[in-house]
Amino acid sequence: MKNTTLVNHPPAVEVPDDNRPLVAPIYQSVKFSFDDTSETMRYQRGEREGFFYSRNANPTLTQLQRLLSELQGRDDCLLTGSGVATITASMLALCKAGDHVLLFVESYGPTRYIVQHLLAKFGVTHTMLSIEDLTGIERVLKDRPTRLAIFESPTNPVTKIADIEHLTRHAKAAGCLTVLDNTFAGFHNHGAYGIDVYLHSLTKYASGHGDVMGGAIIANRELIAAMRKDIGPIGAALDPHAAFLIQRGMRTYFLRYERQCANALSVAEFLAQHRRVKQVRYPGLKSHPQHELARRQMRDFGSIVTIDVDGGYQEAGRFAESLELFSIAASVGSTESLVMPPQLLHSGGYSAEQRAQSLVGKGTVRLSIGLEDEDDLKQDLTQGLLQAFS
Ligand SMILES: Cc1ncc(COP(=O)(O)O)c(C=O)c1O
Repeated sequence: MKNTTLVNHPPAVEVPDDNRPLVAPIYQSVKFSFDDTSETMRYQRGEREGFFYSRNANPTLTQLQRLLSELQGRDDCLLTGSGVATITASMLALCKAGDHVLLFVESYGPTRYIVQHLLAKFGVTHTMLSIEDLTGIERVLKDRPTRLAIFESPTNPVTKIADIEHLTRHAKAAGCLTVLDNTFAGFHNHGAYGIDVYLHSLTKYASGHGDVMGGAIIANRELIAAMRKDIGPIGAALDPHAAFLIQRGMRTYFLRYERQCANALSVAEFLAQHRRVKQVRYPGLKSHPQHELARRQMRDFGSIVTIDVDGGYQEAGRFAESLELFSIAASVGSTESLVMPPQLLHSGGYSAEQRAQSLVGKGTVRLSIGLEDEDDLKQDLTQGLLQAFS
C-alpha cells in the first residue's frame, strides 16, 4: 500500500467487546458501510438495524435522541442543527395547503415568522391570539378546523404561562395537534400533559455552555416516523460532534438548571424590592400573575427574570450597558448571565393591541441568570441600576 492510499485507509483499531469506554465515542463519520450490497439493501428496506448516512442516522445522535425522549416522557426524537430548524421542519412536516394554525402573540419571533410568512406561502392560514385569551382559544378551536396549535410556556421574554391543561383539552376535542416549544421549561417539565410534539432548542439549557447549537423534536414513535419522511429531505441534521457536546452538557443539566433557578428566584426577589424596578416577572414569585398556574404545571420556574425599570429606553439601555457580569447577547440558559435591553426585545409585525399583549414596553429588560455567585449578581445589578439613573 502506497502512502497516498494508506492515509485514506488508516489502520483500524478494534476495542474488545468486554472493554467499553465510559464515554461513548463520537461517530464522526458521514458514511457507514455494510459488507455487501444485499445487506445494504436490507437496511434500506428497514429489515435490519444499522447506519448508512449520517444525515439520516448516526449512533452518536441515536444516544442523544434516546436520552432526550426518555427525559421528556416520549418514545422518539429527531435532532436538527438548531432550535429554529425544529420549528420550521415540524411545521412543514405537519401542515399542508389549506390547513389552519393557531399561533400566539407571545411566541418567539421566528415562530411567528414561520407561521405568518413561510407557511402562508404554501397556503396555510393562521389565527394569532394572546396565550392568555382562553375564551378566544376555545372559540377558534370550536369554530374552525385547526391542524395544530404552536405555543410556549413560559413565554419569551415576559414569562407568561400557558394553561396547558386547558389548551390540550380543547385541542384534543377539536382534533388539533399541540406543539409546545418547551425550551424555557426544560425536558423535566410538562411531560405529563397530553402534548403531541415537544420542541427544544438544545442551544440553551441542554448544551448549557453557549458553544454549540442544536434542536430536538420529541413525540411518540408514530408521529416521529411520519414526520421523519419530510424532515429527512429538509437536511437540517445535527452534526455528530455537536451531538457529543450536547450529550456531555446533559450530564450537568439538572445541576445547572436547579442552580440557575435558585439564582433566578433570589435575583427576582431582590429586584422586586428595588425602588427603580417597576415590575419583576418571574413565575416563581408569588406576585407573578400566573404563579399558581406555574406551580401546578412546573417543578421549577426557569432562569429568565424579566423586569420593567423605571423610565424608558434610555434608562433601560444604560442599565444593560452598565452591567459587568451580564453581557448584552442573544440566547438564554447558558452558564453565564446575559441581558437584553428593550431596544433588542421589540419585534415588528404587531398591531397596537398585540403589542400591548406582548407586554414588552420601553423599560423591559430580559435577564438570563447563570451560575455566578448570587451576591455578585445582585451587587452588579445594584451598581447597574445606580448608573442607569445617575
Ligand atoms: C423559545 C425559543 N425557541 C427556539 C429558539 C431557537 O433556538 P436556536 O437559537 O437554537 O435556533 C429560541 C432562541 O432563542 C427560543 O428562545
